[in-house]
Amino acid sequence: MKNFVYEYATKVYFGEGAVKEHLKTALSAYGENVMLAYGGGSVKANGIYDEITTILKEAGKKVTDFSGIMSNPTYAKVQEGAALAKENHIDFILAVGGGSVIDCCKIVAAQAKTEDDIWKMEMEEHRFPTAVLPMGAVVTASGTGAEMNGGAVITNDEVQIKAGLGAAAPRFAILDPGYTMSVPKMQVISGAFDTLSHAMETYYGNSDEDNVSDDVALAIMKNTVKNMRRLLKDINDVQARGNLMWDSAMAENGILKVGRVTDFQAHQIEHQLGAYTDCNHGQGLAVIHPAYYRHIVKDAPEKFLRFAKEVFGAETAEAGIDALAAFIEECGLPTKLGQLKSRVEITPEVLRKVADTCNIIPCNPRQLDRDEVYDILMECM
Ligand code: NZQ
Ligand code: ZN
Repeated sequence: MKNFVYEYATKVYFGEGAVKEHLKTALSAYGENVMLAYGGGSVKANGIYDEITTILKEAGKKVTDFSGIMSNPTYAKVQEGAALAKENHIDFILAVGGGSVIDCCKIVAAQAKTEDDIWKMEMEEHRFPTAVLPMGAVVTASGTGAEMNGGAVITNDEVQIKAGLGAAAPRFAILDPGYTMSVPKMQVISGAFDTLSHAMETYYGNSDEDNVSDDVALAIMKNTVKNMRRLLKDINDVQARGNLMWDSAMAENGILKVGRVTDFQAHQIEHQLGAYTDCNHGQGLAVIHPAYYRHIVKDAPEKFLRFAKEVFGAETAEAGIDALAAFIEECGLPTKLGQLKSRVEITPEVLRKVADTCNIIPCNPRQLDRDEVYDILMECM
């Protein structure tokens, strides 16, 4: 194990009815001016907005709406939220949504406390915000685990980069599986694939042998696959949605990552593909993962074999990747780039740009070069 310091920043309230039961208490420690942040309108259609505003009123809060946070949130939207927070002297940000709303709010929380440009500060000067507005998250769509970590993935359209920025983790996260029941099937499955990806990306980083993190990551993978299959049979299975909600948080709350190196190269490729195409995150990962793993299987044969046996009951390392690809098809997820919803036509020229601008991490099991990233993307055509 590598040395580490671990501290848990987010208090979690889990279960059906958790918002009704705990939101008022969770907010009691914070000031009266609350920014209620949400996405493109699902919260209004499914009644979540009404339920939460009623609770906020009962708690004596003055509410400022910050609406229209899009999937793959932009840096321009962050600036809009930060200006609104400053103008309304916001004391607390309540993010109600999936990863996109939560991530946007994490950076709004930092940008509202400084005149410095957060993107420039972090990406160019490698400085991190020291003051942030407190924020909390009510999860309405699971998969990213954004509610339990301090990172935020933001698209800066000016420079055409989608990247992770550091900010504060939510002070609390409320995970009510009932709130996810209106999420459409394809989004549920795409989110769950993101969870599977997080556990795989952590597992394929280097670790000491017999590190507990590998065992836990494999357990999360198996549980995620099992519950995704339950939802494929019955999309209204609230217990399976709840199981996946906790898998999602467990895969990305940092507990798997302590004391080890992680991979996350598939994520780096997908994020930059997203900067060009605005594609769905989980679906982009579903397309990239099998091709990426076929490129690195020879660099970590034992790990791939263990994954094959434990997660899919396959006999060889390569058969494990085939089983992953078959599972992606079984889920009805896209298997080719052309199946992704994209704002531009995905051509070899676009893929060359993605390969030339994506973040290459000195990752394990092996660092890729840009031509190889391009080859992987071309194999996904
Ligand atoms: O915008 P609304 O109308 O709310 O609709 C959303 C959106 O269209 C809908 N939705 C959410 N809750 C719903 C619902 N529809 C019906 N009923 C509900 N209860 O779901 C759609 C997708 O939401 P979004 O938040 O975009 O999805 P997701 O949670 O997958 O988040 C994706 C973003 O998170 C980033 C991704 O890159 C992407 O930008 N990630 C964040 C991570 C983190 N901070 O740890 C890690 C991940 O690897 C990921 O990169
Ligand atoms: Zn992800």
